[in-house]
Amino acid sequence: MNAVLQSHTASNRSHAQEANQPTAEALLQVQGVSLEYRTPERVVRATHQVSFEIDPADRFVLLGPSGCGKSTLLKAVAGFITPSEGQIRLAGQQVKEPGPDRIVVFQEFDQLPPWKTVIENVMFPLLASRTLKRREAEERARHYLEKVGLSTFANAYPHTLSGGMKARVAIARALAMQPKILLMDEPFAALDALTRRKMQEELLELWEEVRFTLLFVTHSIEEALVVGNRILLLSPHPGRVRAEINSHQYDLKSLGGVDFQASAQRIHRLLFDEGEAPVAEQDLRFQDIRIAY
Ligand SMILES: Nc1ncnc2c1ncn2[C@@H]1O[C@H](COP(=O)(O)OP(=O)(O)OP(=O)(O)O)[C@@H](O)[C@H]1O
Ligand SMILES: [Mg+2]
Repeated sequence: MNAVLQSHTASNRSHAQEANQPTAEALLQVQGVSLEYRTPERVVRATHQVSFEIDPADRFVLLGPSGCGKSTLLKAVAGFITPSEGQIRLAGQQVKEPGPDRIVVFQEFDQLPPWKTVIENVMFPLLASRTLKRREAEERARHYLEKVGLSTFANAYPHTLSGGMKARVAIARALAMQPKILLMDEPFAALDALTRRKMQEELLELWEEVRFTLLFVTHSIEEALVVGNRILLLSPHPGRVRAEINSHQYDLKSLGGVDFQASAQRIHRLLFDEGEAPVAEQDLRFQDIRIAY
């Protein structure tokens, strides 16, 4: 991989590094990580020597076509899969197994046990991990339910909620654990377009308020530009780093704008013009971009 890609490109760290100032260690370091699935017949390589770093309060997006290993990378950060090469460090500690400092929100909102009410669902990980006693857990659960606008549904059962509401419960449940990093794998993919947009908006509002650190997986270029402040572009299977770009200037208000559309097209070229001559960095006109060839 291109050496420049190994340093940060879109956060203050890069500027500090350019000025040769000492930089604090990144919160999450993914270093040369290859991930494989072994079946009795063959070995499937899902990612090849992927590196990136995430700082506190980053909204870092993994973007790439279906099958490029986004979910596999997320599972490795969560500690469910061990890299066959390279390593993952969270706050300086090597990730070896799942832990309450990394909470995953998946696409399927049926991850909420149907026999528990909304508040019981939010309290459950806090109690199961012995993070808090019942009273404190309930207090914290109410706090995060309020943040996602579901206070009045605390005693409802999941089957009585809409898809968007279930998504909010899953987010409240994850944030209530106050993880070091929140991992989201296409969390809004199953929702209709309008609800998806609303959830993106709410997620950004929540981030403004709580400033959590987010690792977000999507294969939607538009969603990546809206949700992320930095985007890692992965090539098709096996996933390799194509580029890392800075996207903090975009939010939902940018949608449909000329600049936004142009950026989306540039990302599309970066992701899919593999067979053609490498695109020159200046042609892409991102202010802060590093391309791996
Ligand atoms: N349990 C598994 N056993 C074997 N191969 C797998 C397994 N899970 C995923 N793979 C393979 O690993 C590669 C990466 O899969 P992964 O699910 O991480 O892709 P993805 O980028 O998340 O795709 P999508 O956008 O469709 O969710 C694919 O080629 C897939 O077929
Ligand atoms: Mg996936």
